[in-house]
Amino acid sequence: MHCLKVIRNFSLWSSVPLGSLDPMSGIVAQFNADNCPQKVNLGVNTYRDNNGNPVVLESVIKAMQIIREKNLDNEYPPIEGLQSFIDAAIKLGYGDKYYEKNSKNIAGCQVLSGTGAIRLGFELLNKFVPPETKVLVPIPTQTLHPTIAKMAGLQSQEYRYFDPTTRQVDFQGLFQDLYTAPNGSIVLFHACSHNPTGCDLELHQWEQLLDLTKKKDLLPFFDMTYQGFTSGDMDKDAYAIRLFTEAGMPIILGQSFDQNMGLSGQRIGCLSLVCSNEKEREIVNSQLNLIARSLWSCPPVHGARIAETVLNNPKIYQLWLKEVRLMAQRIQNMRYSFTKALKELGSPHDWSYLSKQFGLYSLTGIGQLQINELMEKYHIYLLENGGISIAGLNDNNIKYVAMAFHEVTKNTQI
Ligand SMILES: Cc1ncc(COP(=O)(O)O)c(C=O)c1O
Repeated sequence: MHCLKVIRNFSLWSSVPLGSLDPMSGIVAQFNADNCPQKVNLGVNTYRDNNGNPVVLESVIKAMQIIREKNLDNEYPPIEGLQSFIDAAIKLGYGDKYYEKNSKNIAGCQVLSGTGAIRLGFELLNKFVPPETKVLVPIPTQTLHPTIAKMAGLQSQEYRYFDPTTRQVDFQGLFQDLYTAPNGSIVLFHACSHNPTGCDLELHQWEQLLDLTKKKDLLPFFDMTYQGFTSGDMDKDAYAIRLFTEAGMPIILGQSFDQNMGLSGQRIGCLSLVCSNEKEREIVNSQLNLIARSLWSCPPVHGARIAETVLNNPKIYQLWLKEVRLMAQRIQNMRYSFTKALKELGSPHDWSYLSKQFGLYSLTGIGQLQINELMEKYHIYLLENGGISIAGLNDNNIKYVAMAFHEVTKNTQI
């Protein structure tokens, strides 16, 4: 009898459906299995250098040398993570001026990158906001946003963001959808380098959104996974954070150092919340700790030590700022070169939108047939929604990729 029960328990899994593959992982698997030497992966989700390789930044190498020389132990850090890292991340996100005046009111926790920031933030919100509260997410957005909202028990509602005909932000649609959303909703904004569209909001649009956010009593949750990748400048990319906080808004901010420090394998990020006073900050911190304890117990230390050293060592910090500028510039150069190459090939389409966008990603509007042809005939891999990562382009493959894009689109509407 006992034996039979065990067998029955095992058969539980035979009725469980196969989980869908993350779109990026699917591309990576197909790309890796392809033996063609000319293959190109435009589905990469981290920065690549001009030879198509992942980067290890000089600033990060220097920070790791300093850490090695300290002969530190590998004991548990506090549940909230390394305080020196949290403080430095908050200072970077909110800016020196705001930090000097208000750091005592900002609750913060070291998290597992951008994903961890969204998860911890949404779990906290689910615990304390009224049950009917909606999380407003742009359409399209990183699939993690609605997925994590659901897993954390929150309901998400989409707001328009992108106009596929102009390939620009549909600001009128966005504004209307936020205007008609329930008062008191949580609104998720990409602070910069919007994934997957590459379309960022302009400064005057952020200003209008600040007014609307105040009027509607919306709670802004900024996902800043790519600080530095839009303009190459940390302060400019954090414009919306600075604008909202200077106006006294109680924002929530998720930061990741996966991209701008090339630390995606270290899972290093920070979640912070602007509170009204020190007492409130203490309470929020205590709740963050309670939730983090049950999610990951405490965060990994090595990435936090690296990021903290980069941010707090003045010389290494300057070197890092320069390296981020160069990464952002390379991406922007690729955008211009790709647009130019397609024009020179005589493409009947206007690709200029690519050079008006920012960050790693763009939605090309290319259809399924063309995507299949790019993969099968040219060994160029992109996402099934036509999304590409500009980081996959480099001086060695850009002409080839432009030729292939031209060939598959020259006789079609896109
Ligand atoms: C907008 C956005 N948020 C969050 C994430 C999650 O990033 P991380 O790797 O930092 O967890 C990503 C990664 O693709 C992203 O693009």
